[in-house]
Amino acid sequence: MIKKFLPKTIFFRYLLIIIAPILLLQIILTIVFFDSLWIKTNKGLTKSVAAEINAIIEVYNDKTANKNFEFVKNLFELSLIQEINILKDQSLPFYDSTFVYSLYDQLMDEELAKEIKFPYWYNTRANKDYVDIRIQINKNVLQFIVHKSRVRNSSARIFILWITIPSILLLMISILFLRNQVRPFSILADSAEKFGKGQYVPELKPSGAVEVRKAIIEFEKMKRRILRHISQRTAMLSGISHDLKTPLTRLKLQIEIMNKNHSLDKIKDDVIEMEKMIAEYLDYSSSQEVGASSKFDLSNLMTEIVHKFNNKNITLKCPDKIYLTGKKQLVKRCVYNLIDNAIKYAGNANVIVKKGTNDISIIVEDDGPGVPDHEKDRILRPFYKLDKSRTMVDGSVGLGLSIVQDIINSHGGKIKINDNPKNKGLKVTLSFPD
Ligand SMILES: Nc1ncnc2c1ncn2[C@@H]1O[C@H](COP(=O)(O)OP(=O)(O)OP(=O)(O)O)[C@@H](O)[C@H]1O
Ligand SMILES: [Mg+2]
Repeated sequence: MIKKFLPKTIFFRYLLIIIAPILLLQIILTIVFFDSLWIKTNKGLTKSVAAEINAIIEVYNDKTANKNFEFVKNLFELSLIQEINILKDQSLPFYDSTFVYSLYDQLMDEELAKEIKFPYWYNTRANKDYVDIRIQINKNVLQFIVHKSRVRNSSARIFILWITIPSILLLMISILFLRNQVRPFSILADSAEKFGKGQYVPELKPSGAVEVRKAIIEFEKMKRRILRHISQRTAMLSGISHDLKTPLTRLKLQIEIMNKNHSLDKIKDDVIEMEKMIAEYLDYSSSQEVGASSKFDLSNLMTEIVHKFNNKNITLKCPDKIYLTGKKQLVKRCVYNLIDNAIKYAGNANVIVKKGTNDISIIVEDDGPGVPDHEKDRILRPFYKLDKSRTMVDGSVGLGLSIVQDIINSHGGKIKINDNPKNKGLKVTLSFPD
């Protein structure tokens, strides 16, 4: 249940681990501060002002002491209360000026109600610096103008500033550090994902905490072992294919000599078939070799490939002077295999080259029988063919698309196999990073 609400990425999880205690601490501190310090001091302040007001009312009401009222008033006005006025024949303003959302006003109201026995009215908003407190005594109103600092404790704002600014600063620092700590994790995860898909992954430099470094070092070791294994396998495949070439050529020659009455035609076809297959194996192993990349004119290469097919059912749409960085021979092999498939299975091919914002795509589409959805992934596997019996007929080995996939992966690109939306055939899209 709680998993649903937890952040998914390691970065936000770590952040939560840092934020949660800070927030909790702040909440506790604020509650303690507000209750024990802020509210109590505010109440105390109002209480003392109310006591002074009570003393003045006492003098004002007392017949004998009243003679000294002016004296007492001046005494208070000197230091404690800014101004004391007697508003003759007046009553309290009829509207209530208590601001419900202000905690200050609430506290003041509470304390004045407790301390002052006469009807009172006050306004904390009319003046920026002063509070206006009025008391109704018989027909007159006593007005007290009190400086706000006498009823308010201004430390709340400072306290909040002190508690929020350092925690925001701390958070920013921890986000910075966290990002550096988390980066190696995501790089490792991305590289593992890419490597798993057979794409080229540059060597990772160990960085971060000891455990992450160790994981990166071990990943690199594993990667090297797998690559060595793959290259041994392809070397073996190409070795065998290469070795078979010579005896096959000899065989072909001998059949040629002996085949006077065409009785060996079938064997001859088989040998030719085997030759084709071996040529493909060699192609497959060479597609995995690493060579240097260069920048070349793709439009030239495309025209050259299409020209080589010499088939009027192939159309090419390619912008002029479009440059691609990669291994030219391998890209040529890719495009060749795709057009070869389209011609073989559909009899025609539509080739389109497009330049995107950060990629170049080569699309080969046809209007042939297409490939059912559940087979679209499988046809990329080595030796996988939809029609298993075809091998003997046309030299189809099932390596064409695997070669394409290997090459495109080693270029950091992608291959997509879709239905051709225009007509029911197949649409293969290669996209190379630009
Ligand atoms: N354009 C296409 N239309 C219909 N089916 C296709 C098309 N391209 C490929 N396929 C199917 O995918 C399978 C695998 O293709 P792939 O190019 O890998 O091998 P292949 O063409 O059979 O042999 P190879 O290319 O090695 O001579 C093919 O056997 C075919 O069934
Ligand atoms: Mg093919």
